Amino acid sequence: MTVPPLLEVEHLSVAVRRPGLPPLPILDDISFRLERGETLGIVGESGSGKSMLSLALIGLLPDGARAGGAIRLEGTDLLAASEAELCGIRGQQIGMIFQEPMTALNPAMRVGDQISEGLIRGRGLSRTEARARALALLERVRIPEARRRIDAYPHEMSGGQRQRVGIAIALALEPSILVADEPTTALDVTVQAEILDILAELVAEGDRAMIFVSHDLGVVAKATARTLVLYAGARLEEGRTADLLARPASPYTRGLLAAMPRRPDRSTGAGPAARLATIPGTVPGFAALPPGCRFAPRCADRVAECDAAEPGWRILGAGTQARGVRCIRAGMPEAVR
Ligand SMILES: Nc1ncnc2c1ncn2[C@@H]1O[C@H](COP(=O)(O)OP(=O)(O)O)[C@@H](O)[C@H]1O
Ligand SMILES: [Mg+2]
Repeated sequence: MTVPPLLEVEHLSVAVRRPGLPPLPILDDISFRLERGETLGIVGESGSGKSMLSLALIGLLPDGARAGGAIRLEGTDLLAASEAELCGIRGQQIGMIFQEPMTALNPAMRVGDQISEGLIRGRGLSRTEARARALALLERVRIPEARRRIDAYPHEMSGGQRQRVGIAIALALEPSILVADEPTTALDVTVQAEILDILAELVAEGDRAMIFVSHDLGVVAKATARTLVLYAGARLEEGRTADLLARPASPYTRGLLAAMPRRPDRSTGAGPAARLATIPGTVPGFAALPPGCRFAPRCADRVAECDAAEPGWRILGAGTQARGVRCIRAGMPEAVR
């Protein structure tokens, strides 16, 4: 018998109900796999559906949202699970790290107690055992003077320390998957690097995987091995992060890349471009998607055929080099254009 993948998302769609109108599709035909020891980046401009996808994975879609397709965790379809089963999976098997830890933390509760709470409820630990474990978790996420800080309230901590506490809470029940939705977006650059280090360590331990969501391709480049590019609720490209950044196949990925600030080129000594390129226009509203490729109205490579029908998902190349792309014009790129 073959072992099912740790996480397998197949043809996931999400639509939200609207009074008197047909449901509004927000995610369309998303598929990917994730194995232990891997980090998958999900990148796209604001409004592309990244948070909706994260919430779907942990079974916390907003009221009125309906999911189709399958989200299989070691073979078990979460979309077919009852709320009671989902409660067991959330935290125990999938842990969530949010962008703004203050929203995930209880402002009126000491951080140590917030970490302990899940351990007492989820693992049946005694108060003393849970506190010892909470302390170990705070040390694991490198909170300085953890022994003292365990009794601090969230408002007494810096943004970076609060995010470490958020990670400790997500880790408490040793989930096999961490879903981190813009975990460093609210933090300044040095703190961001420290948090990325901690997250990388947690995945490098090998028995865990991470989904790392960001609007920032630069951060995704540092944090992930594979990347899924999301645009207006659809995947436009997927592949190994290093390959995808070196040789993007989709014009949208190329646009994101061109808009990314660069460090000076070591070989030529050239500095960053004086002006960053931007992709003209904005992500279309889900109620007004164009009839063909959803990126076509903003695409530099657009031809008449792009507007005729939405392109299907194609695989270019093979093996570890394989690249998925949803663009009729994309071929396997030889070099950065
Ligand atoms: N609770 C909700 N009900 C209906 N639509 C929502 C809700 N939350 C987000 N949306 C819509 O879903 C789309 C994707 O949002 P989101 O997943 O937050 O994007 P991202 O995280 O990539 O910025 C947006 O168009 C947004 O308006
Ligand atoms: Mg978001």
